Amino acid sequence: MTRVLFRDLKQLATPAGARAPLRGAELGAVTVVEDAYVLCEDGRIAAVGPMRDLEPVRGDPVHGELVEIDGRGRCALPGLVDCHTHTAFAGDRVDEFALRASGANYEELHAAGGGILSTVRATRAAGEDALVDRVRDHARAMLAQGTTTWEGKSGYGLDRETELAQLRAVAANGGVATWLGAHAVPPEFADGDAYLEFALREVLPDAAKLAEAADVFVERGAFDAAQAERYLRACRDAGLALRLHGDQFTEAGAIPLAIELGARSVDHLEATGEAGIAALARSDVVGVLLPASALFLGRPMPPARKLVDAGAAVALATDFNPGSAFCESLPLVCSLACTQLGLSPSEALAACTVNAAHVLGRADRKGRLAPGFDADLLLLDVPDWRYLAYHLGGDLGIEPFVAAVRALP
Ligand code: NIG
Ligand code: FE
Repeated sequence: MTRVLFRDLKQLATPAGARAPLRGAELGAVTVVEDAYVLCEDGRIAAVGPMRDLEPVRGDPVHGELVEIDGRGRCALPGLVDCHTHTAFAGDRVDEFALRASGANYEELHAAGGGILSTVRATRAAGEDALVDRVRDHARAMLAQGTTTWEGKSGYGLDRETELAQLRAVAANGGVATWLGAHAVPPEFADGDAYLEFALREVLPDAAKLAEAADVFVERGAFDAAQAERYLRACRDAGLALRLHGDQFTEAGAIPLAIELGARSVDHLEATGEAGIAALARSDVVGVLLPASALFLGRPMPPARKLVDAGAAVALATDFNPGSAFCESLPLVCSLACTQLGLSPSEALAACTVNAAHVLGRADRKGRLAPGFDADLLLLDVPDWRYLAYHLGGDLGIEPFVAAVRALP
């Protein structure tokens, strides 16, 4: 057993209370402690508070040695939680990015066999070892930006071997795996129904052993609500939690379906209108907002302020992927949340800690600096924790700790 004491922290900030998910006024309630400490024992947080309340601690035979970390001039935050990424891909889409910069349209590229399907070709060709290496590089880049817990989806294999390889590559790198078995219809199938027939029969039984959740892209050009329902019901029967990509370009029934099936989340929501906002607000489904994706594609931002004011639970995530959001940075997403979505820095913090942890079924141990929680925390070399959102694309001097161990050299 090791004790680690983070001492003399300029400031510590953590979402207040113990509830998850946070919604309404509670979303913006952050506890800020000036001149603070965090005491960790065996990878868990044992105590948090102002330095003046710190009882003398030292190593002893029961607790082992005491490691002290000097927090002077730095702010502590919970490790960030990215609850929506597509990290398990090979290749890139830089050519497509350049085409889009000169006016090409994301949905039209997809319809012409590019977009998602071009990443499917690269990912199928990569092989599992190369995929594991790519995910490791991506996880490291996310960690450098403060992400200590992350979800990673499949969905760039769309065949049995590559889908399972993606899920294993995510898990091998410490990610929470989601089977995005219904991301697009691969070219070897005549239509979505024929593909789902195959995926549910041939892939789901093994995917359900590797993944915690299933996800589907409900959209024109991908899967309609009836197909999504068939896929999600089968996945739920196999023991998976449910997620949906919904309302990215059009409202195609994802929100009512998510509510009916008791999904954990519906993600994107750029096209969500008043009825969808009201329905989500009455439900337990979390709306996951992906402003980096809206920015990257030049799309309207999701109606985040209206969702929060209506009482919906929202989370923030990067949507990191090569086509619609080539961005690993939750701090940048927090900046977009404050500048584009109308959220406060406190609301943004809760949305990518507590609420994101809730989406991943981990709100009892991730996303807060509080006794009993995993000792995943960030030291930021900034004078005020709100620099997290304030310093747009800036260097925050992030030093991440996972289970109280320095996670980057
Ligand atoms: O969340 N919208 C569907 N899927 C991903 C993008 C995948 C890609 O373009 O490769 C998303 O934006
Ligand atoms: Fe996505």
